[in-house]
Amino acid sequence: MALMSQGQFISHCTADALTGAAAQLKAGQLVAFPTETVYGLGADATNPDSVARIYEVKGRPADHPLIVHLADMQDISEWASDVSDYAIELARSFWPGPMTLIFKRTDLAKDFITGGQETVGLRVPDHTLALALLNEFKKIGGKGVAAPSANRFGHVSPTTAEAVQEELSEYLSHDDLILDGGSSSVGVESTIIDCTAEAPRILRPGAITVEKIEGATGVKVENRNDVIRVSGSLEHHYAPSAKVILDETPQPGDGLIALNSVATPEGVTRLASPLNNEEFARLLYGALREADRRELDRVVVIQPEGTDISIAIRDRLKRASAEG
Ligand code: TXA
Ligand code: MG
Repeated sequence: MALMSQGQFISHCTADALTGAAAQLKAGQLVAFPTETVYGLGADATNPDSVARIYEVKGRPADHPLIVHLADMQDISEWASDVSDYAIELARSFWPGPMTLIFKRTDLAKDFITGGQETVGLRVPDHTLALALLNEFKKIGGKGVAAPSANRFGHVSPTTAEAVQEELSEYLSHDDLILDGGSSSVGVESTIIDCTAEAPRILRPGAITVEKIEGATGVKVENRNDVIRVSGSLEHHYAPSAKVILDETPQPGDGLIALNSVATPEGVTRLASPLNNEEFARLLYGALREADRRELDRVVVIQPEGTDISIAIRDRLKRASAEG
């Protein structure tokens, strides 16, 4: 643990600890918490000063919108207007879960949450600790918790509390908290679905795939890219310090992340050997961090194929390997 470490690390999240953490949020402090996708850095989504601190701690440009995390799908009407039938179907099918829905905002969603856009992103995460925290926060009058991934801007998202500490502790203050809820079970960020038009549109791929969305709603997903700002869609993102190389034969001294069926050449450091694409997603960010811990110059990733969560994996790897 770094000497400079700030932000209290809570490894046993008892009911009392969660009540305390919710009170800290209400009082304006930041609370990093686990979700099933990645860890989030949370603040009271109605408090401009707390939200400003998220941007400071992350080193993130101020016009990038934040996702508001809710305890329950009933709460969406506070933040969203014009909620379509297919969006309700999505919420019913996949919440709590690794999915963020974008709606037209209500007056509660201020510019400091939406980055000045007329839309707001909402998510009910599927993690016992996150839900307990959100419920405690709601009990004391909280409306929602704004939380980006708990990493410095452009870096790899954290999937453990230790990774959050590594990323952010020197930027947190003494009263901020880091809640430890173990490793994130999904491992890549939520699917972001724009629900403001007639048909759903994917802005960021994740564990909830086109197939699942179409299966649940009976509505065809539209495939269009436009100008909505998604910071994760900048070219260079999700990147470790090591250079990420895709689908090449690793050289001696390189790190290697690939499915278990791929052999490790002589002199190469194996960083992960997942058995399937779900495990690949779960292990990927930890393995990229491990490459940096070992001070490797290059990490080769042999990308998994398919139309499942591997779409999200390839999306993140494309950005992690982009020059920038
Ligand atoms: O899995 C996740 O979504 C994690 C966990 C903590 O919930 N959160 C996360 O947040 O990945 P963040 O801020 O690192 O990425 C959220 C993305 C950003 O790229 C942001 O631009 C986009 O969501 N976003 C948020 N609100 C939006 C909106 N109203 N319209 C378009 N994009 C939005
Ligand atoms: Mg992020």
